[in-house]
Amino acid sequence: MKTIWQDRYGGEDTLTLRDTPAPEPGKDEVLVRVRAASIDLGTRHLMTGLPLAVRLGTGLRAPRKHVPGRALAGVVEAVGEGVTGFAPGDEVYGTAAGALAELAVVPVARLARKPASLDFAQAAAVPVSAPTALQGLRDIGRIKAGQSVLVIGASGGVGTYAVQLARALGAGRVDAVCSGAKADLVRSLGADDVIDYTRTEPGADGRRWDLVLDIAGNRPVATLRRLLTPRGTLVFVGGESGGRWTGGMHRQLGATALSPFVHHRLAMYVARENGRDLETLGELADAGQLRSVVDGPYPFEETARAIARLDAGQARGKIVVTVSGD
Ligand SMILES: NC(=O)c1ccc[n+]([C@@H]2O[C@H](COP(=O)([O-])OP(=O)(O)OC[C@H]3O[C@@H](n4cnc5c(N)ncnc54)[C@H](OP(=O)(O)O)[C@@H]3O)[C@@H](O)[C@H]2O)c1
Repeated sequence: MKTIWQDRYGGEDTLTLRDTPAPEPGKDEVLVRVRAASIDLGTRHLMTGLPLAVRLGTGLRAPRKHVPGRALAGVVEAVGEGVTGFAPGDEVYGTAAGALAELAVVPVARLARKPASLDFAQAAAVPVSAPTALQGLRDIGRIKAGQSVLVIGASGGVGTYAVQLARALGAGRVDAVCSGAKADLVRSLGADDVIDYTRTEPGADGRRWDLVLDIAGNRPVATLRRLLTPRGTLVFVGGESGGRWTGGMHRQLGATALSPFVHHRLAMYVARENGRDLETLGELADAGQLRSVVDGPYPFEETARAIARLDAGQARGKIVVTVSGD
């Protein structure tokens, strides 16, 4: 089978297209013929081995796993021992280590049936970014009906889902921060007001929000707290360029330690990949409350070029590559 392959940490030039033996599903695993896979910043972190803290889990000198990619959609090819809910031919989506391959092994706990309303490219965009947005709003942010929500970093992978999910979860008002060039896109997803961070800062006009989802920009904690209503909640999702060693995690960790001593709630989290949330998201998609914004899809052979778009900040929504056809 064809895979995207990587022997050493680095940029897109470390990726090659290679023929490798097909993997076999083990207990509670499903072998999926991948129709489409999406790229996210997590995939890029694992590819570059940056921030360096990543390497503690993935290999100090070189990546232990050679096939990058996590989020996929495709068709079940075979099921391993103990799998009862899926059968060959089922259309599915989920997360796997090594999604950028014609065949991938997916733990059954990270798999769900593909929603009928999404094609394979649209479904492949969902499994990493949309659960991250869902968990940030629902589980960590504890969003309540009628609340005002600000999504910082709204035009990217997580943000495009966060804007729609804040609406679907009952927010009274959803405002968004991204560059002006992508404002129309974010408005079309349901944002009330879009703030172009290249021209002005959110809150410059004195507005405050009950829940702020901080996905990008690495603003200082004090700046972000000034955006909150007196009992508001700030949820740290991500933020790039925070340093070569930890990627800026000290900002989130410091804020979480501060949280018990201030009237705001400050929280960070690492999203959990699971099939249950994919089922919830699939229901929202089929009900017309959630769609994927796909950048691409790009041909499998052009995966490196597609990843470079992410690095250059050119992506509109989720970058998707088509891995195999019918
Ligand atoms: N906590 C978790 O478990 C978890 C899970 C997944 C991802 N993440 C993290 O979440 C972050 C975002 O991931 P993603 O896939 O959504 O990235 P992405 O697709 O690259 O999107 C980033 C977004 O940030 C916006 N942006 C850039 N600079 C900004 C600034 N100064 N102020 C406001 N917005 C700005 C970009 O807008 P323009 O393009 O319009 O400039 C874009 O919409 C990453 O750091 C990732 O590692 C965390």
